[in-house]
Amino acid sequence: MTGAAVRRAFASTRDQRRKTARARRVQFHPQGKKRMNRRIAVVSGGIGGLGTAICQHLAQSGHYVVAADLAARAERIAAFREETADLAESIRFMPLDISDFDACAALVREVENEFGRLDVLVNAAGITRDTTLRKMTPEQWRSVLTVNLDGVYNLCRNVVDGMCARGYGRIVNISSVNGQTGQFGQTNYAAAKAGMHGFTMALAREVARKGVTVNSVSPGYCETAMVLQIAPEIRADIIADVPVGRLGQPGEIARVVDFLAAADSGFITGANIPVNGGYFMDF
Ligand code: CAA
Repeated sequence: MTGAAVRRAFASTRDQRRKTARARRVQFHPQGKKRMNRRIAVVSGGIGGLGTAICQHLAQSGHYVVAADLAARAERIAAFREETADLAESIRFMPLDISDFDACAALVREVENEFGRLDVLVNAAGITRDTTLRKMTPEQWRSVLTVNLDGVYNLCRNVVDGMCARGYGRIVNISSVNGQTGQFGQTNYAAAKAGMHGFTMALAREVARKGVTVNSVSPGYCETAMVLQIAPEIRADIIADVPVGRLGQPGEIARVVDFLAAADSGFITGANIPVNGGYFMDF
């Protein structure tokens, strides 16, 4: 046998062994073949306005999705189950308070133990406590920073080791146009969302050689409960400043997240994709 023929024969035996091992893993897994062969995604804030649409898009593109969110949101959990009923085979709710580091560690462990992998993390959990800085209490400052920024650390810190070891991962952080421009009454929120951009770029550099990409998406004003709670006259003024002349739809954000989460988006990392109807343009 020539050297090349030996290498070919060895490669084909090695491929066969890998296939058999994979098939065995699938066969003996309690959840069955379907889930094991799919990419596994965790979406924090998964039952929220943007989170729900992100879960739906990821499920539609073939992922098995864990929607992680606060257990206390009972009404919203029920509504989420209804809204995603047609994808119930592909989406599961798991309770999580992302401000709790140990809870994030436990959730990641549980997903990895059950599925043997965690391929995609979308950090979509976020809250607002809008008020001018002159009135802002330490609690209003801390709660927004804790959920919106510490939460990103808490989940990313717990997923990166596994992603790097497996040589594959997609992390998408949902920031905001207001992290790029600032907004009246949002020193806390704008600081956290701007912080996410720095975090995204720094982590992207750290894990780039390991097959893991880290990007952010910066939505503008979308039709979600968070935006609909802004006083109508203020909201009308904001919409008047949006070149496309309307609020965004959650699905318009979700399709960009799904794009970044795809296996063939591996050359995009440390990037921010704005989806804001032209509200803020730069290059
Ligand atoms: N620009 C300039 N001045 C403003 C203003 C504005 N947008 N809003 C209020 N002011 C003025 C007021 O007229 C008032 O003036 P005087 O002191 O002379 O009377 C002063 O500023 C203080 O106003 P308030 O006492 O009303 O301020 P407040 O602490 O109660 O906060 C606010 C007001 C709730 C922040 C309100 O301005 C607001 O809702 N702004 C919009 C905030 C916003 O866009 N949030 C986005 C939420 S959705 C989201 O964040 C999703 C995303 O990523 C895009």
